[in-house]
Amino acid sequence: MDLTHEALEHHWLPFTPNREFKREPRLFVRASGMHYWSQTGQKILDGSSGLFTSAAGHCRPEIAAAVAEQLQTLDFTPSFMRGHPGAFALADGVAALTPKDLNHIFFCNSGSEAVDTAIKIAFAYHLARKEAQRTYFVSRERAYHGVNIGGTALSGMVKNREAFGALMPGVLHLRHTLLPENRMTRGQGATGAELADDLLRFVQLVGEQRIAAVFVEPIAGSTGVLVPPRGYLERIRAICDRYGILLVFDEVICGFGRTGEPFAATSFGVTPDIITMAKALTNGAQPMGAVAVRDDIYRTIVDAAPDGAPEFFHGYTYSAHPAACAAGLATLKIYQSEHLFAAAQKLSGYFLDAMFALQDLAVVNDVRGYGLLAGVEVKPGKAPGVRGGELQARLFDRGLHVKTTGDVAIIAPAFIASRSDVDQIAASLRDALAAY
Ligand SMILES: Cc1ncc(COP(=O)(O)O)c(C=O)c1O
Repeated sequence: MDLTHEALEHHWLPFTPNREFKREPRLFVRASGMHYWSQTGQKILDGSSGLFTSAAGHCRPEIAAAVAEQLQTLDFTPSFMRGHPGAFALADGVAALTPKDLNHIFFCNSGSEAVDTAIKIAFAYHLARKEAQRTYFVSRERAYHGVNIGGTALSGMVKNREAFGALMPGVLHLRHTLLPENRMTRGQGATGAELADDLLRFVQLVGEQRIAAVFVEPIAGSTGVLVPPRGYLERIRAICDRYGILLVFDEVICGFGRTGEPFAATSFGVTPDIITMAKALTNGAQPMGAVAVRDDIYRTIVDAAPDGAPEFFHGYTYSAHPAACAAGLATLKIYQSEHLFAAAQKLSGYFLDAMFALQDLAVVNDVRGYGLLAGVEVKPGKAPGVRGGELQARLFDRGLHVKTTGDVAIIAPAFIASRSDVDQIAASLRDALAAY
């Protein structure tokens, strides 16, 4: 492949320093299991499951075969007023994994679309209940809820917001839960449940019946693995119950086993009203997102509309795309037959030991983790994020792919990882970090 700057010019890469990338391109050309191969033939261990997507490992032949067969049988079905068997089967499969009565599944194509879909479901639900005055949404500082307009407004990372004007009005942000008292805490920190009471202040600020929904990542992933303090999610749930506010868990990263259970809602024992998901739903092999809602939310919206008319004026041309459904079904089958969520849970202790052992390095500012998800934060260099970017490049050159956000390396191996894969991830991190 031609790797001159001119040959790479037309592709505008997302969330990437394009000029730097095109000066020093790092491309993947092949993947299998726990590994990628770069354009120079270098074998790279995948320490972040792609982008938290490929939980069953890369290039699973079962998924590739299911997609190929689907594309030769039924490549596309109009998603409005038509259906195909795979969509119903996948909705059943997802509903079997979601907690309690979150059994109605709306399909879309990404985590961002799942979040904006959930915002619209919350509006539609309150309208159907004749509570259309609930127009405020609450999320958190340091949240990441994707990049569509609603999700950008909910997000709490300044770089993702500052260029884009007023976005969606009526969004209030709870304080984040990254507290110095909980530094180097494995699992849930002891301090910080009371931060949930910010929600009470918002109720007092805008009115008892004005908030439509609260969006929370059970573990804030993209912002650097912020594990909720003990009692925090329970307290948010209780306040939502008291004031008729919908609780949405954005499980785009946590969903499908990352915490050792199908959803983090199960791991933390707190059931939301709506769950957004994507990524590992298809093992990353096809773009797909989904929103699971409580049965009565679906019923309320559907029953409020006249018979014969669409009840929810929302959907995508590629909602429940046949190839994505085939990938999703094959993926869920692998998770089940290989007991991969249990495997993630079993490996978690060893993995977290290895990540927390890095805290002896002088440059390491904090380590956080839960399940097969850990954040290793380095002390900032010249400016915030510079060291994180540098670290990511150094790791790549040492044969390890890791996603970084700011100055945090986010480590999330696939559930098929062995202890020796974990050892290799830890050794590469140690080597790269010791160079500071
Ligand atoms: C919690 C959360 N929500 C939403 C998204 C957006 O998903 P996508 O990039 O598929 O649009 C992400 C992506 O990392 C995420 O972590």
